[in-house]
This record gives sequence, structure tokens and C-alpha cells, in this order.
Amino acid sequence: MSEPDTGSGHSNLRGRVTIVTGAATGIGRSIARLAGAEGARLVLADVNTGEGEGTARDVIARGGEALFVPCDVSDPEQVRHLMDEAVRHFGRLDVLVNNAGIAGSAVPAHDLDVEDWDRVIAVNLRGPFLCAKYALPHLLANGAGVIVNVASTYGLIGAPLAPAYCASKGGVVNLTRQLAVDYGGRGVRVNAVCPGYVDTDMGGRRASLPPAQREAAQARREANAALQPLGRQAHADEIARAVLFLASDASSFMTGSIVTVDGGCTATFNHGAG
Ligand SMILES: NC(=O)c1ccc[n+]([C@@H]2O[C@H](COP(=O)([O-])OP(=O)(O)OC[C@H]3O[C@@H](n4cnc5c(N)ncnc54)[C@H](O)[C@@H]3O)[C@@H](O)[C@H]2O)c1
Repeated sequence: MSEPDTGSGHSNLRGRVTIVTGAATGIGRSIARLAGAEGARLVLADVNTGEGEGTARDVIARGGEALFVPCDVSDPEQVRHLMDEAVRHFGRLDVLVNNAGIAGSAVPAHDLDVEDWDRVIAVNLRGPFLCAKYALPHLLANGAGVIVNVASTYGLIGAPLAPAYCASKGGVVNLTRQLAVDYGGRGVRVNAVCPGYVDTDMGGRRASLPPAQREAAQARREANAALQPLGRQAHADEIARAVLFLASDASSFMTGSIVTVDGGCTATFNHGAG
């Protein structure tokens, strides 16, 4: 019997052509910085061109390789263009990180505008599908590749005032498993990370609030996080490190896995540590 291909076992992304969507800010920017420092050849995508180009400059200033491509992940033509640019620039594609996401309005379902529902589903669920659809031919051409989806604990449980967000992330969780089934035999692994509370500007919502409301929203998040076993929000790098593990050969026997990186929040009720 021939030995299975277990990959290099390397826990870094040196030389891997890696697309990161939503790379302008927050978790995506952390993924870009850490992957760039490991030697990944990065293609960074975002609707926020100013900050996205800033992330690329940052990676390059630290000795890494990065190209920024403006892209709305909900638009098939822009996504197809993103994949073409990646392959035109670097000659191949190895890793796709579907990280772009928006929160939507904090209201219950009966108050949610249909347009708001559609936009959240378009960015958070259609986006990862489109990116996978147009990346997969390039990954299959190599006979190897990795997709990492950034879902959420809100895709595993119901959370208050987030109907579209919870539905979109629940969709990403099961899209992850479905893609793992179809492509495992063809060398492509697909996994998801489910972050809990992470200290970022999530969808610019906090930045767009008046200062008093922003402080109240931040205080609510911190109070919720304090009730959980690790008792705090994550730093974006703590999510990025899990994404890099799933993107590397260190996770060579993992596919269809849904990995919580949530300070223990889905391990318990909101009781905090003993
Ligand atoms: N912050 C949290 O507590 C938390 C928790 C769980 C999951 N997540 C998920 O992590 C991911 C990153 O979020 P973040 O916390 O870093 O927030 P963030 O707002 O800092 O980053 C999201 C990025 O996605 C980009 N983006 C938005 N719409 C886009 C589109 N249509 N096309 C391309 N890019 C687009 C934004 O410009 C931004 O740069 C999201 O998928 C989010 O749902 C965040």
C-alpha cells in the first residue's frame, strides 16, 4: 500500500500564494501581517481600498510580499477578476481565506429591512461561495489547496439581534462541510474558524456610532466577554494564528472541521469561570 500524502508538515505558509478577503482591517489585517511574516505571497482583497493598500504596504515594509486588489466579494465579476489577478501576478493559487464580513443592523427579525438581510447574506455567505467557486479551478489545477472560512460562534448558536448575521454564518459553517466532502478526494481541504468576541471594529459599526454609543457598545461587549471562561475579548492575532494553522500543512489531516476560537464561550452557559 502506498504511503498517503501528508504534506510537508510545515506550520508556515512560506511561498504559498494566499488570498485574504477583508484584509483592510481587523482579523483580516492580522492574518495578512502574520502570513506575510511567514513568507506567504499575499493577494489582499477588500472594498476599503485606502486601508487595504495600507495593509499591503505594512506587509511589504516588514519584508513580505503583497498585492492589493479592490474587490466586493458579493460581485461575481469582481471575484473572478480577483482570482485572475492573483494567478497573473504570482502564477498560481494555493490558499483562500474567506474573511470579509459585515454585521448588519442590530434589530430583531420583524424590524430588519429586507435589503439589510440581503446585503448581509450577499457579503457573508454568497461571498465565500463566489470566492470558492472561482478559486477552486486554480486549486484543482495544482491537485492541492486549502480554503479557510472565517465563520463565527454566531453561526453555531442563536444570538440576540443578529438574524441575518447568525443565518449567514450558520450557512458558512455547513458550506465548509459540504465543500470538504466534494473536494477532499481532489486534494483540497476546507475548514472554518468560529471566533467569539474579538476586539475589532466589526463592519465599521463601532466607528460609525456617536462616541457615547460607541463606548456603551464596547462596554457591553466587554461585559459579555467577561462572563466567558477566559473572561476577555480576543486580540485579532489570536484568531489569525488559528487561521494560519488551518491554512498550513500542520493541519494536513483536517478537513470539514469547524474550529471554535472563542475563549470557551460555546463550551458553557454565560456563567464565566467557576
Ligand atoms: N469581531 C468579532 O467579534 C468577530 C466575531 C466572529 C466572527 N467575526 C468575523 O471575522 C471576519 C472579520 O471581521 P472583523 O472583526 O475583522 O471586522 P472588520 O470590520 O474589521 O473587517 C471586515 C473587513 O471586511 C471588509 N468587507 C466588508 N464588506 C466587504 C465586501 N463586500 N467585500 C470585500 N470586503 C468587505 C471590510 O472593509 C473590512 O476590512 C468577519 O467575517 C466577521 O464576521 C468577527
